[in-house]
Amino acid sequence: MAGYNVCRMISTNPQKPPRIVVFGNEKGGTGKSTLAMHLTVALLNRGLSVATIDLDARQGTISRYVANRRQYALRQSVPMPEHAALDTQDNMEAELAAILDRTQHCAMVIIDTPGHDGALSQIGHSYADVLVTPINDSLIDLDVLAHVDPHKQTIQRPSHYSERVWKAKQIRAKRDGGSMDWVVVRNRLGQLEARNKKLMGKLVNDLAKRIGFRVADGIHERVVYRELFLDGLTAEDLAALANTRDVAMSHVAARQEIRNLMHVLGLDT
Ligand SMILES: Nc1ncnc2c1ncn2[C@@H]1O[C@H](COP(=O)(O)OP(=O)(O)OP(=O)(O)O)[C@@H](O)[C@H]1O
Ligand SMILES: [Mg+2]
Repeated sequence: MAGYNVCRMISTNPQKPPRIVVFGNEKGGTGKSTLAMHLTVALLNRGLSVATIDLDARQGTISRYVANRRQYALRQSVPMPEHAALDTQDNMEAELAAILDRTQHCAMVIIDTPGHDGALSQIGHSYADVLVTPINDSLIDLDVLAHVDPHKQTIQRPSHYSERVWKAKQIRAKRDGGSMDWVVVRNRLGQLEARNKKLMGKLVNDLAKRIGFRVADGIHERVVYRELFLDGLTAEDLAALANTRDVAMSHVAARQEIRNLMHVLGLDT
């Protein structure tokens, strides 16, 4: 059954269908929900109407994030997305289509998907105008995108998640002739891992050329990306944060990273 929690905002352009950004990677724990929520708030702060859809309702991270933000909003005004969670195993395609239908007045739809393969995730991917795939900056995470030759340290061949994206692109093209822009973002970059970072950078760039995704500037490992969950806030909520705690340099740096991501996604205009 689809759950709705509607918080109406005015769309900037009601004629235009919403742009759909899907966060996906069948590897768990790569930052899909965290970055989905940060992007959502960044878009809300620009005055855009945003709907969030949780296709990982069992875990429910982004649903909890939005619920926590709703609680916070009772104390201090912060912009809210409309939110829906899809937790059915039946009629998944029709249920998701119905939710998307109800978001037509929004400028943007952000879909968070589970960190494993599954029919609902596949359907969700197939609606992406933009697919954002965060990967932890680790060769283990890269393995779901491509197999790497351990001796030559070069890409051998794309692996299962890349194939799933390819399939989602085909489903999308068949449904409405639309295309999908795929962007990979390295997440949780360390400050002190020069060798790993360099190798990951080279491999991700090689793979990008081979299977056709774009690479966004990386997001660093920062406490600010995880410490604000209980208040439903993000590094993008600097105004709200300034009232309650010290705003550190890392908040500002994180906000800049999210802005860079928006720029690469073409969402900062
Ligand atoms: N840039 C970052 N800096 C610090 N912590 C981060 C960063 N990105 C994500 N995290 C933390 O990493 C963990 C995984 O993040 P998150 O839940 O967003 O990943 P996910 O891909 O949605 O996971 P799942 O596949 O289980 O849904 C969380 O503890 C989150 O707070
Ligand atoms: Mg998640």
